[in-house]
Amino acid sequence: MREQNDMTKARLHLLACGGTIAGLASSPLDFFGYTAGAAPVAAVLAKLPEIEALADWQVEDFCQLGSENAGPELWLQIARRCADVLQDETVDGLVITSGTDTMEELAYFLHLLLKTDKPVVLTGAMRPLSAYGTDGPVNLYNAAAVAANPESRGKGVLLVMNDTILSARQAAKQDSFRLHTFGGGEFGPLGYVAAGQVQFAAAPWHRHTQATEFHLADIHKLPQVEIFYMSGGADARLLPTMADLGAAGVVLAGFGNGTFSDAVGEQLRLLMSRGVVCAVTSRTQSGFVVSHLPGLLPAADLSPQKARVLLLLALACGKTPADMERYFALY
Ligand code: SIN
Repeated sequence: MREQNDMTKARLHLLACGGTIAGLASSPLDFFGYTAGAAPVAAVLAKLPEIEALADWQVEDFCQLGSENAGPELWLQIARRCADVLQDETVDGLVITSGTDTMEELAYFLHLLLKTDKPVVLTGAMRPLSAYGTDGPVNLYNAAAVAANPESRGKGVLLVMNDTILSARQAAKQDSFRLHTFGGGEFGPLGYVAAGQVQFAAAPWHRHTQATEFHLADIHKLPQVEIFYMSGGADARLLPTMADLGAAGVVLAGFGNGTFSDAVGEQLRLLMSRGVVCAVTSRTQSGFVVSHLPGLLPAADLSPQKARVLLLLALACGKTPADMERYFALY
C-alpha cells in the first residue's frame, strides 16, 4: 500500500470505455455531431505525454461506445473487470474513461460494489478529442493525478471533471454541453485538482465500497428497474405497463418532497400489491423526500437515476424491502 509520503511512482490501470473523450468528428468545430468512443484511448494518450511522469501504466480499451448505449449489463461487466484489476497487488489505482451521459450511474454502481480502498477515478470530456479546446486530455491528466495520490485512498469511487473532484454518490451531470457540467449538488465537491495538484477539502459521508452490503459474487441476474417521471396530469396507466414489461422495481421522480397525483398513488399501490418494489425521489434535484404511501421507500436525497442504481443492486442481491429502506438512508 502506498503511504502519504511515498515518492515512488504509482502503478495505475487505465480502463477505457468510450465516450466523448475518445470522440471523433471530421471538423474541429463539430462539438455535437461526432462519434463517441471512435478512437482507442491511445489516441488520447498521444496528446498527453506528461501522463507518463505521473505513473507507470497498464492501458486497456475495454469498450468503445457512447454511454447513452450503456446500462446495467455493461456496468456489471465493467465492475467485474475493475474488481479483477484491483485485486492485482501490483496495481495502486484505477482510472476509467467513459462517456459523461451515464457516468454518474456507472460511478455510483462501482461505488456500491467494488470492495477496495484503492483510488478509482472516472473521467471523460464534454468536447470530443478532435475538437478545438477538447477537455479530455487535461481531465485525464487530473484524474490520473488524483488516482496516483495516496490521499485518494478510502474515499470510494471519485469523478474528476473540469478541475473538480466529486464523490460518485453526489456527482450529477447538470449542463448539456458546457465543460463545468458536473456538480456535487448541495453537498458540493470533495476537492479540486489543477494541473495535477490535488487538494481535498472533504470526505464522503455515506457508506461505499468496502462498507456496503453488496457483493459482485451475489449478482447472477440484474432485474429491470424503471423510472416514472411525475408531471402535471401524467398518465398513471403507464405504471402497470412497466410491470407488464418485466420491471421488478419502479422509482418515482415525484413532485416536491415526493408527492404524486391520486391516480399515480392508486397505481403505485397496485404495483406494490403485485410485488414490484417502489421507491420515491424528487424531481426537484435538491432536498430529501418522505414517503406518502405505506410501503413506498423514500430514497433520501438521491436523484431518480441514482436511486434506480441502488434499487437494482438491492434487488439483484436479494435484499428485503426493510434492508432497502435502510440502504436509502445509508448509501
Ligand atoms: C457519452 O456519454 O458517451 C457521450 C457524451 C459525453 O461523453 O459527453
